[in-house]
Amino acid sequence: MSGVLAIANQKGGVGKTTTAVNLAAAFSLAGISCLVVDADPQCNATTGLGVQPLPRHPWLMREPLEEFIQRTEDGPLLLPSSPCRADADLLSTPSPPRLERIQRRFNRVLGQYDAVLIDCPPSLGQITRIALSLADHVLVPLQCEYFAMEGLALMSELIRQVAAQSDRELSVAGILLNQFDPDWQLAHEVAEEVRRHLGPQVLRTVIPRDEAISAASSHGRSVLGYDIRSRGAFAYVLLALELIKRFMLPQHSGGVDEESSRPRGAGLKSD
Ligand SMILES: Nc1ncnc2c1ncn2[C@@H]1O[C@H](COP(=O)(O)OP(=O)(O)O)[C@@H](O)[C@H]1O
Ligand SMILES: [Mg+2]
Repeated sequence: MSGVLAIANQKGGVGKTTTAVNLAAAFSLAGISCLVVDADPQCNATTGLGVQPLPRHPWLMREPLEEFIQRTEDGPLLLPSSPCRADADLLSTPSPPRLERIQRRFNRVLGQYDAVLIDCPPSLGQITRIALSLADHVLVPLQCEYFAMEGLALMSELIRQVAAQSDRELSVAGILLNQFDPDWQLAHEVAEEVRRHLGPQVLRTVIPRDEAISAASSHGRSVLGYDIRSRGAFAYVLLALELIKRFMLPQHSGGVDEESSRPRGAGLKSD
C-alpha cells in the first residue's frame, strides 16, 4: 500500500477499530512498519492496543506529532486519541486553517511508515473528513447483517468530495466483510448480496466472527498477540497479504489487481 489507509464507515460496531488494530498487528508481523492513528474520541483503538488515552488531543497540540507516538506490545506504533470533549468539539467544527495545520503536521510524519491505518469515528463528520483528506485509500468494513450496505452511497459521495478538494489520490481500497458466521444462513445471503452489488471492490478475505477477536481487545491486545492460532488471527494475516498484493507489490509483478487501479476519487460502485 505504501500509503495511508482510512478505515471508515459511518455505522458503529462494524469492525473499523478491530480492523485497524489487527491489520496493523498483521503488517507488523510481516515486517511492515505500521502506524495506527486513532481518530476517534472514543479512543477504542488506543485502549485496544493497551495504551492510555491522552488528556488532550495530539492533533491540536503544539508539540510535533512524533512526540505522542508510542510503540505497542504487538508491534504497531500508535498515535493515541483523547476523550477531551472540548478538543473533539473543536475538531468537529469545520475550519480550513485548522485543517491545513493538521495536514501539514501529518505530512511530516506519514511518509515515515510503510503503512498508516487511520481508525475513523462512526460518522461522516469533520473528523472523518480530516482523516480522508490524509488518506490514499479507504477501507470500508461491513458487518454481515441486514442493512450492511445502508449508507454506502453517502460514504461514496464524501470520498468524492474530499478527493476533489484535496490534492491527494483517494480510492476505495476495498470493502471488507466482517463478523461472518458460516453457520448462519443470513450471513451467507448478505455476503452474496454485497458481492453481487459491489463486485471486485469486495475483498476476497472475509473476517469470521470469532470470540478471540473480542476477547483480545478487552485485554488490550491484537488477536495475533492474544491467540495467534485463532481463526481471527489467521483471517487478519490473510487480509494483510491480500492488501500487500493489491497495493504494495510493484505493478509488473502482477501484484496490483486491475480493479484497484481506480481513478482519483473513485467511489463505491453501488451508487
Ligand atoms: N470478527 C469479529 N468477531 C468477533 N467480534 C468482533 C469482530 N469484529 C468486531 N467485533 C466486536 O464487535 C464490536 C464492535 O467492533 P469495533 O471494531 O469496535 O467496531 P467500530 O469501530 O466499527 O465501531 C467490538 O466489541 C469488537 O470486539
Ligand atoms: Mg471504532
